[in-house]
Amino acid sequence: MNPRGTRRRENPASTKPRAFQEANSITQRTAGAHFPAVKTLAEFNCDHQPSLRRDVLGHLATAAWVSRAENVVVLGPPGTGKTHLGIGLGVAAVHAGHKVLFDSAAGWIRRLSDAYRGGNGALDAELRKLARYKLLIIDEVGYIPIGPHAANLFFQLIAARYETGSVLVTSNMPFKRWGEIFGDEVVAAAMIDRLVHHAEVIALSGESYRTRARRAAISADPAAAMRATPTPAPVAVPATAVVPAGAPGGTGQTSQASAAGLEGQR
Ligand SMILES: Nc1ncnc2c1ncn2[C@@H]1O[C@H](COP(=O)(O)OP(=O)(O)OP(=O)(O)O)[C@@H](O)[C@H]1O
Ligand SMILES: [Mg+2]
Repeated sequence: MNPRGTRRRENPASTKPRAFQEANSITQRTAGAHFPAVKTLAEFNCDHQPSLRRDVLGHLATAAWVSRAENVVVLGPPGTGKTHLGIGLGVAAVHAGHKVLFDSAAGWIRRLSDAYRGGNGALDAELRKLARYKLLIIDEVGYIPIGPHAANLFFQLIAARYETGSVLVTSNMPFKRWGEIFGDEVVAAAMIDRLVHHAEVIALSGESYRTRARRAAISADPAAAMRATPTPAPVAVPATAVVPAGAPGGTGQTSQASAAGLEGQR
């Protein structure tokens, strides 16, 4: 409004640079987030995840949860879209104006260990630096066992974010098996407690999207599909390898609550 109470006309010369600046800062925040791939929520096929509530996803897509320093945990077997959802929600947060940083659990541990080795409060300094990000995405918790020292660093990260900044965690393991990942039931329970206090827990289930896509390709053109995929060399699996949830000997998730492994935990 101008002093006469009439609406001020938008100056096209000033809106153009503003739109340009906004697009520019989205580009910068996207690059700074270090997403491992380009994925959006629009590309996520909800029909493949009938238990995933569209209204919940729609609400998360507004990124209001990031403004409130709340968390999201995405659980489910391999190939069910955890990383896709993590990136998609991260991209939505970037578009809503938030600074986001993505890394795998192993990557976060490397980063925190490096800081810890720096001594002289370097870990605290690193945690303060990370506080500038409104959302940290921690992908693939559960694929690699985490030793006691790394578990301690991880706990410090989650504790530092508690009610001050959002965390999005993806894991192939239900909560009740996080004690195995972190090698310590007490640390795992304390971490889960902080994570889920203000959080949306999404439990994905079913067959891997990768397997499904591969099967569709084979049935469309069996010869071409076989040519495109060389037989992989056998890989030595360490005795400590974690059994993915949903695999034989895994947890076989069905409902939202059982997939999250929340029963008996809270
Ligand atoms: N519902 C879906 N709609 C569209 N694409 C999907 C869906 N689920 C998975 N995908 C695609 O399938 C591939 C595997 O998904 P993604 O990497 O997100 O799985 P994941 O649960 O993180 O698996 P992992 O536990 O092995 O890391 C990706 O290319 C992803 O974009
Ligand atoms: Mg993944």
